Amino acid sequence: MRLAYPSVVLLSLGVAAYALVLYGFFPPGMALHPDMRANFEAQRIGLYLHVFGASCALLFGPWQFSRRLRAARPAVHRWLGRAYLLLGVGVGGMSGLYMAFHAFGGLPARLGFGVLALCWLASGWLAYRAIRRGDVALHRRWMLINFALSFAAVTLRLELPLLMLAGLPFVIAYPLVSWLCWLPNLWFGWRLGRMPAGTQSMPARSRA
Ligand code: HEM
Repeated sequence: MRLAYPSVVLLSLGVAAYALVLYGFFPPGMALHPDMRANFEAQRIGLYLHVFGASCALLFGPWQFSRRLRAARPAVHRWLGRAYLLLGVGVGGMSGLYMAFHAFGGLPARLGFGVLALCWLASGWLAYRAIRRGDVALHRRWMLINFALSFAAVTLRLELPLLMLAGLPFVIAYPLVSWLCWLPNLWFGWRLGRMPAGTQSMPARSRA
């Protein structure tokens, strides 16, 4: 479990780097299904807002769980938190909701991504509201849930190849993964949030 937190950091940065490089320097969706590519061409603005906005969540989010950083640099925690919520969750989530209406995979995928976007936006708002009221414990709980949902971008990209290796065609695997990428994360974030601060094992290394 000592490796859990560094793995979350590395995987988050890895997927953010994937998104920033692939969409910053190459035509949209070049590695994906041709129908997705055509859709991305038609929804360029929504797609770029989503990819670059949501990447901020993976770039800024993981550091927020470091006790050391929070204790030593509280102002950094606050500014990273604002950028995470505004650019990552706000811009990435609104545009993710818009992209969900056009997602590949029909109604099941549209619903999967759409409900994810709503849960992401709502938990971000509730985390912000809690800290504005000075309720640190509630803020922590909503943030654990919120970042677990940000991490759906990572789990999707781990699960999709596994489902396809298991023999599922892309047209089945994709709508399936639109739910599978976040429902277990939501459960995990909720469970972590119910443990008293400092007892959960994910950020254990950062306690030193
Ligand atoms: C957690 C809430 C999120 C929702 C609801 C969401 C939703 C979506 C949707 C609907 C699409 C279009 C897929 C299609 O047309 O079939 C998409 C694509 C994409 N999203 Fe997200 N997304 C979320 C989080 C993230 C995060 C945190 C990242 C960070 C990198 C990200 C990066 C991407 C990328 C790069 C694509 C293009 C497809 C690819 O190259 O893999 N998303 N997202």
